[in-house]
Amino acid sequence: MMGKVAVVTGAAGGMGRAIVARLLADGMNVVGLDIDRTGLEELAIDPAFTGIETDLTSSAAIGAAFEQIASEHGQVHALVNNAGTCLMSEFPDIPEDEFELQMGLNFTGAFRCCQAAIKLMEGGEGVRKIVNISSNGAYNFDAFDPPHYRASKAALDTLTKDLARRYATQKIAVNSIAPAMTETPLFGVVSEEVLANAIAQMPHGRAMQPSEIADWVGFLISPTGDISSGNVIILNQGRDVR
Ligand SMILES: NC(=O)c1ccc[n+]([C@@H]2O[C@H](COP(=O)([O-])OP(=O)(O)OC[C@H]3O[C@@H](n4cnc5c(N)ncnc54)[C@H](O)[C@@H]3O)[C@@H](O)[C@H]2O)c1
Repeated sequence: MMGKVAVVTGAAGGMGRAIVARLLADGMNVVGLDIDRTGLEELAIDPAFTGIETDLTSSAAIGAAFEQIASEHGQVHALVNNAGTCLMSEFPDIPEDEFELQMGLNFTGAFRCCQAAIKLMEGGEGVRKIVNISSNGAYNFDAFDPPHYRASKAALDTLTKDLARRYATQKIAVNSIAPAMTETPLFGVVSEEVLANAIAQMPHGRAMQPSEIADWVGFLISPTGDISSGNVIILNQGRDVR
């Protein structure tokens, strides 16, 4: 995949950094979008990485970022919608702005990035890829996740299936990866006790590592992943098998 361009949102986060590292190792040029300018600057130590400071809750900012990508690179081979957060207020007392931010970053931002990226994928070579980072929380109702988080990820997975169907003959493959507990700064949203309990539920007795998720992203984006589209791939060590 030498020289092909991948756009990774939330590039400066725990999962994002691992995904960037994997795609750079695979020979891609990576454009990272994140609100964390310092994190993007750290990643730019690799000349194949470009950071664009972007607030993904702003459709104008997303439009500007993709205009820059279009002028610098022309085409995009892959998009990884990884930016997301898990805001934890208890239902029904969820402040309106928290609801808007959860949906706005986890779903609407990803939707807008798909709109912009697909225009830069059309007519490209080979099977182009969108990978949406969902969550096991959309499917496992025993875990702690709040309803607005679950719903944002379920919406994302329906978008995955729609776009997979819509663009199948144009060779744009769209999949979701839905991880369970993965050790990143996002672990900070819950108390030590809730965290320890959730990790104890993992069949291997440990949280997953960001690099383990990133390898699945890399696999899907590589030619080996060409024949998969429209799938929600659950990564949880087999925790929820019934
Ligand atoms: N860590 C887990 O256990 C876990 C499990 C399931 C799903 N996920 C999903 O994985 C994805 C990555 O999460 P993570 O664990 O790496 O979290 P993280 O908090 O380490 O990374 C999130 C990144 O998103 C960026 N971001 C936040 N708001 C932004 C905005 N408005 N505009 C642009 N960027 C913004 C942050 O700066 C950060 O770099 C998320 O979609 C999350 O829902 C994580």
